[in-house]
Amino acid sequence: VKERPADFVVRVATLDDTHALGALIEASVRALSAGYLTGEQIEGELRYVISPDTQLIADGTYYVAEAPDGGLAAAGGWSRRRALHGGDAFKQAHPDANDLLDPATQPARIRAMFTHPGFVRRGLARRIFETARDAAAAEGYRSLILTATMPGVPLYQSLGFTLVRRYDDPLPDGTRVPVAEMTMEIRS
Ligand SMILES: CC(C)(COP(=O)(O)OP(=O)(O)OC[C@H]1O[C@@H](n2cnc3c(N)ncnc32)[C@H](O)[C@@H]1OP(=O)(O)O)[C@@H](O)C(=O)NCCC(=O)NCCS
Repeated sequence: VKERPADFVVRVATLDDTHALGALIEASVRALSAGYLTGEQIEGELRYVISPDTQLIADGTYYVAEAPDGGLAAAGGWSRRRALHGGDAFKQAHPDANDLLDPATQPARIRAMFTHPGFVRRGLARRIFETARDAAAAEGYRSLILTATMPGVPLYQSLGFTLVRRYDDPLPDGTRVPVAEMTMEIRS
């Protein structure tokens, strides 16, 4: 029996979720990036860039969708800090990553959206995005920005984001990963 959207609960993530989030992220990226990225790019992203960002969790700006059995079905959030992407390990190399933004002049970040491969296309990423967008708007932000890897682009286009530019993110091992910078105004 396929769960209905109402069977999934979206709640704020806590640091107790960190381990399960790591597993969710790896399963999501490995299964859902095929066809968009090479195996080398996928493993490079997981090794150097993508992992839980515990600053977002501590800030209370990261959300999870819980399946009826209590497992994590999806995750994502927003940030009032400078970094556009990257988990804890990646951000250690970027000392300004946690600098706070000015809501009046700078866009809030949409960050780290991942759905478990068993729960895609049920609107979970959209629900988490809408929760994040509304929280950013309530804090005074007027626009959103993100950098997406290729598997995320169809979602963000569907949510109303506009492509600003595409570029290749060079990883420490020399692998290059294409990313898209996208933005959106928050209408209030
Ligand atoms: C991108 C991702 C988070 C989408 O999660 P999801 O929960 O399946 O997304 P939703 O069900 O909320 O999709 C909302 C809409 O986005 C669009 N969309 C989402 N995934 C899509 C896909 N693979 N292909 C085309 N359109 C897609 C559709 O318009 C969809 O609405 P529809 O299902 O009614 O057609 C998920 O595919 C994922 O985790 N990918 C791997 C990790 C990743 O790349 N994350 C982004 C990092 S920047």
